[in-house]
Amino acid sequence: MSKDIFSFAFITDPQIGMNSPFGLYGPGSDKERLDRAIAHVNDNEVDFVIFGGDQINDADDENTDAQLDVLQESLSALTVPYHGVIGNHEQGAPTQPWKYIKLGLPVRFSFSHRGAFFVGINSSWLRGNFGDKYLQEEWDYLENQFSRAPAGRNHLFVVMHWPLFNYHPREEDKDAYWNMPNRDALIDLFKRHKVSCVFSGHWQQDIDARWHGISLITSVGTSMAIQYPEELSFKVVTVFEHGWSVRRVSVERT
Ligand SMILES: [Fe+2]
Repeated sequence: MSKDIFSFAFITDPQIGMNSPFGLYGPGSDKERLDRAIAHVNDNEVDFVIFGGDQINDADDENTDAQLDVLQESLSALTVPYHGVIGNHEQGAPTQPWKYIKLGLPVRFSFSHRGAFFVGINSSWLRGNFGDKYLQEEWDYLENQFSRAPAGRNHLFVVMHWPLFNYHPREEDKDAYWNMPNRDALIDLFKRHKVSCVFSGHWQQDIDARWHGISLITSVGTSMAIQYPEELSFKVVTVFEHGWSVRRVSVERT
């Protein structure tokens, strides 16, 4: 491939422990489906993986340690690097120590890769779940990362657990659990910095949207479709000079 053509995987909401009816290692488990995604990545030309959040189901209860063990075991099988953002299932109030964070598992990131710049954020903070102080802190972080994006980049990709909206941007807050209430301010920021595409999870279904010329891709997770029936899968994104393509890869038994 040309030096500026590459693929990465976007795997979101593996949510270890949410849909494992016969145990964390049993048949039909979240681990089984995440491991299928990882095997596909390892066997194909994928440069790295980005995780979209909700890597485990329970942030801090009697199940958390076992879920984190499973997650780390699966991640250790990856033969390419991975990055990721935190979801709402790994954290609560920022004043508490959360096991997922203490283990050094991914919360945010920014990096360049073959002419593209990637920024991942903690969108639970950014949407104001924990008050204005943390919202502002995350906003400042995001703007700071954008200011570091190389001037000659081909693309600027943003990864955040929460999608800006599920159906349309004027759905207001009737489904506020599932969308970003500050999406108007965010899309203005994204436009100013010429963001190419935003990848999200959380909604647990596919959304392929475009708003103000910016592509908004939300992926179904590998754990469970929550809103309506859909094949559990992840995305492989191929990036090239003036665009990108996105494909679904199933993690269900075939
Ligand atoms: Fe979530």
